[in-house]
Amino acid sequence: MMRIFWTTIILLSSYYLYRAINFRFVKEGIGPTFWNKQFWFVSHLATAVLPLITGPFQFWNWFRKRYIKWHRFLGKVYIIGCLLGGLSALYLGITQPYSGSIVPTLILASLWLFMTSAAWITIRRKDVQAHRLFMIRSYTLTLSFVFLRILSDLVYEHNFLSFIKNQDVKDATYEWMSWVIPILIIEFFISWLPSIKRLKSST
Ligand code: HEM
Repeated sequence: MMRIFWTTIILLSSYYLYRAINFRFVKEGIGPTFWNKQFWFVSHLATAVLPLITGPFQFWNWFRKRYIKWHRFLGKVYIIGCLLGGLSALYLGITQPYSGSIVPTLILASLWLFMTSAAWITIRRKDVQAHRLFMIRSYTLTLSFVFLRILSDLVYEHNFLSFIKNQDVKDATYEWMSWVIPILIIEFFISWLPSIKRLKSST
């Protein structure tokens, strides 16, 4: 079951990464000058790709137990990728041409920076349980890169959200959905449900 889950995540990440690079770096273009916005697109891709690639290794129990030194090294690569990818996302988020996407993108980038920093701080204090939960949150936000593009395909190719007639409202709606829904589902399983179970067993 877990094998199918992770294979699906890796295949979807690779597929949408290929399409996003093709779209931005081949078809659309990355801006006219170095600062507007070539530097930002290149550095965003070069850094944000690190957590996307290293994430599955970090959650793979067999790999972590057998190669703890690699887990530590890749963990640092993951964190640096998120922090630099998140900072460049803040800039790209503010300057993007889609006004309805600015607020959800900025909140997503800020949460990504926060969850990843928290994962780092907690493991420095050797709080493995808190570290695991913050890593789950951080990687869920990393995967919003994939969720956003799946939703975009559903909207543009399969009439998803067809009850919203205004295109800008539709775009902003699925931009919000791409990270709010995954992080709520994850919170349900790692935080709310365990609290309810604890409450039940203590009464
Ligand atoms: C999770 C936090 C993230 C945020 C807030 C974010 C934000 C953004 C923004 C605002 C843009 C520019 C959109 C535009 O102006 O057209 C962008 C583009 C891009 N991002 Fe991210 N990003 C995130 C994560 C990632 C990850 C994990 C990857 C993986 C490699 C990634 C890869 C890309 C690529 C390839 C582009 C260029 C293609 C495109 O414009 O669609 N991003 N991102």
